[in-house]
Amino acid sequence: MATTALDPFKLIDIENATEEQALVLEDITKQFELSTQKITEIVQHYVGEMHKGLEKNNHTLAMIPSFVIGKPTGKEVGTVLAMDLGGTNFRVCLMEFKENTEINIKQQKYRVPDEFKTGKVNMLFDYIADCVDKFLQEIGYEKKNGILDLGFTFSFPVQQTAIDKGTLLHWTKGFEAEGAVGEDIVKLMQGSLNRRQIPARVVALINDTVGTLLAHAYKRHTDALIGVILGTGTNGAYFEKISHIKKLGTFQSKSEEMIVNMEWGAFDLERKILPITMFDNKLDRESLNPRAQLFEKLISGMYLGEIVRNIILYLIDRDLLFKCVHFDYSTFKEINKQWAFDTVWVSTIEADQSSNLDDTKIVFEKYLNIYSTSLTDRQIVKKVCQIVGIRSARLGAAGLAGVISHRGAIKTGCSIGIDGSLFEFYPNFEQRLKSTFHEVFGSDAENIHLELTRDGSGVGAALAAILAVKHA
Ligand code: BGC
Repeated sequence: MATTALDPFKLIDIENATEEQALVLEDITKQFELSTQKITEIVQHYVGEMHKGLEKNNHTLAMIPSFVIGKPTGKEVGTVLAMDLGGTNFRVCLMEFKENTEINIKQQKYRVPDEFKTGKVNMLFDYIADCVDKFLQEIGYEKKNGILDLGFTFSFPVQQTAIDKGTLLHWTKGFEAEGAVGEDIVKLMQGSLNRRQIPARVVALINDTVGTLLAHAYKRHTDALIGVILGTGTNGAYFEKISHIKKLGTFQSKSEEMIVNMEWGAFDLERKILPITMFDNKLDRESLNPRAQLFEKLISGMYLGEIVRNIILYLIDRDLLFKCVHFDYSTFKEINKQWAFDTVWVSTIEADQSSNLDDTKIVFEKYLNIYSTSLTDRQIVKKVCQIVGIRSARLGAAGLAGVISHRGAIKTGCSIGIDGSLFEFYPNFEQRLKSTFHEVFGSDAENIHLELTRDGSGVGAALAAILAVKHA
């Protein structure tokens, strides 16, 4: 990696490192490094996997047709409900689309308690239905006003067979609710809504990446190509020519294109191309879904903190970190716990520009009860955060570059709608994506436009519902 002053890949210098610390860190850094050559190989492999997934089902890169037909024009009108489930919170919105892309939004967020994420699926969906019920009462929606069309953003891998039909392939991101895998999500959801007599009909089931792309296309409908989530989880969706989606067989449509949800989190489960470190293997082995979502586990916010924690533990065990810390029975109690290192702190530490790394010190003292760290300790930890963060952004860029290459969109230019905390808040994430595009595409990388597209899963779900009804 080059190291100029403005380089988003510049790693911190570690003062006063011992020879052993320097050697071990150099070795770890190498394991996380992705040369331009390696990135190019990953991009090529990604394109090959896209082709395989478009040919037939049950491929690693699932390439799931979304059955979202047509592009939003920005002229949509109507009032619909949108729901979003896929992370810490569940959200419900009532959206009124007016002409000239004006949208009136009423919405409410509810925390999804952990017991519902891992209990029976009916409990989870009944809880969601209760939230919708509460919301409609709060905003004073009356049943006599009619049944609302509902777009449901469900951010997990779902094998869709129609815009309003799809079975869950497997859970991700810490969800494990029993009785959902292999079941039609729309049927389950509608069942719960009906049991509560809620005046809503699920007309569209979409992935959050599909929603993000729709919301992005709604604003910039000419060159929007990809919608991507770089947050707790990660994934991408893009506009594909229907004639290229071979596995759709004789499917007929007036539209030339359909959005495909790639489910890129599962890319390279065969471990043919991605360089996997022992720290990733430990995370994977201890996760709820071992041997699944490999790409996601290298990139997304749910996992970066845990990778950093694994490296820190390794350095502690080799007696290379926190040597001056007063060590008693409780010192490492916190950091020994799985998931104890929040990705927000990785971000805080990367952002810490103070010469004494004061914010890094606070993270260790306030949240992990580790006191009297040396500056060298903190610099080492900062470097660890940097190498994990850089790898994440470079791999995200590789996936995007794969799609852009496959669609031949680099010369004509294209626009990517991105949502998620990594893209929005993680220091340098966007610059790292852009620099990686430059390595792959040279100056043509200027033709790639990146735009934060907040709330794709709300606006996007509502647009999907409007399009579904229009094209029914
Ligand atoms: C899921 C995807 C989703 C992504 C971002 C992944 O874990 O498999 O369906 O799009 O997270 O939320």
